[in-house]
Amino acid sequence: MAAKIISGTEIAKQIREEIKEEVKNLKEKYNVTPGLVTILVGENPASVSYVTGKQKTAKELGFYSVQDNQPADITEEALLTLIDKYNQDPLIHGILVQLPLPKHINENKVLYAINPDKDVDAFHPVNVGKLMIGEANYYPCTPFGIQQMLIRSGVQTDGAEVVVVGRSNIVGKPIAIMMAQKAKGANATVTICHTGTKNLAEHTRRADILIVAAGRPKAITADMVKEGAVVIDVGVNRIGMTSEGKAILCGDVDFDAIKEKASMITPVPGGVGPMTITMLMLNTVKAAKVANGIA
Ligand code: GUN
Repeated sequence: MAAKIISGTEIAKQIREEIKEEVKNLKEKYNVTPGLVTILVGENPASVSYVTGKQKTAKELGFYSVQDNQPADITEEALLTLIDKYNQDPLIHGILVQLPLPKHINENKVLYAINPDKDVDAFHPVNVGKLMIGEANYYPCTPFGIQQMLIRSGVQTDGAEVVVVGRSNIVGKPIAIMMAQKAKGANATVTICHTGTKNLAEHTRRADILIVAAGRPKAITADMVKEGAVVIDVGVNRIGMTSEGKAILCGDVDFDAIKEKASMITPVPGGVGPMTITMLMLNTVKAAKVANGIA
């Protein structure tokens, strides 16, 4: 039977409506407008497209939003000074530095310079540590989006076998930790697979919920998926250009074949991507509330 398609676009739209209401309420009741700055260093086309999407959404939701573009040859010191300026700015509640950064800049040094209270990406070690002990202020946006998709699609996670393919700091590791926590939309038995895994298919075939962030187009084929599994595809691979110059995207799973076998599957585009941006907005609203002592 063909799988139900989990539309990240639709779920994100619902959540954005909820955020819009909350932003309106914050303005009316407390005179607070959530403020987000996105810092882009250089002109990497994928990064430009991500940051443009984040800024567009922030504006649509009524945020105060600042796009700060810096040249690819900005010094590390100048970038750290810029971050400090936004750390001190009371109108800015969330700071996002788009990754990757040019090679001459130490990425960790930059991420560590962001005030953890304004770290809406949840990449600062303080926030990573809090996530680990079940005390998170912010969840990293992509894992947060994945978990919300599972919850809002009615997927049973309690006691489920979750297999994560990929061990990045942004997706693989945090989603594995989150799914193993004793919490709503979690409490699962989790396996993390990676490039060192000996027999990947042996693990993926056990998954009730398969979360793939491998960074390789069609890394997961239909024979690697259990009948009735829920498949979440985090991959965004640019495999060509349309005649109008738009990127052609594909995920990390063989969508056409797997949708005949899975019970639910996320598409690319229109799956995890729109959720990631929406969770960034949710984190920024939370940051604005925390900064203003609003529960
Ligand atoms: N580059 C790719 N994904 C992300 C993300 O979630 N946050 C930031 N800051 N950079 C990214």
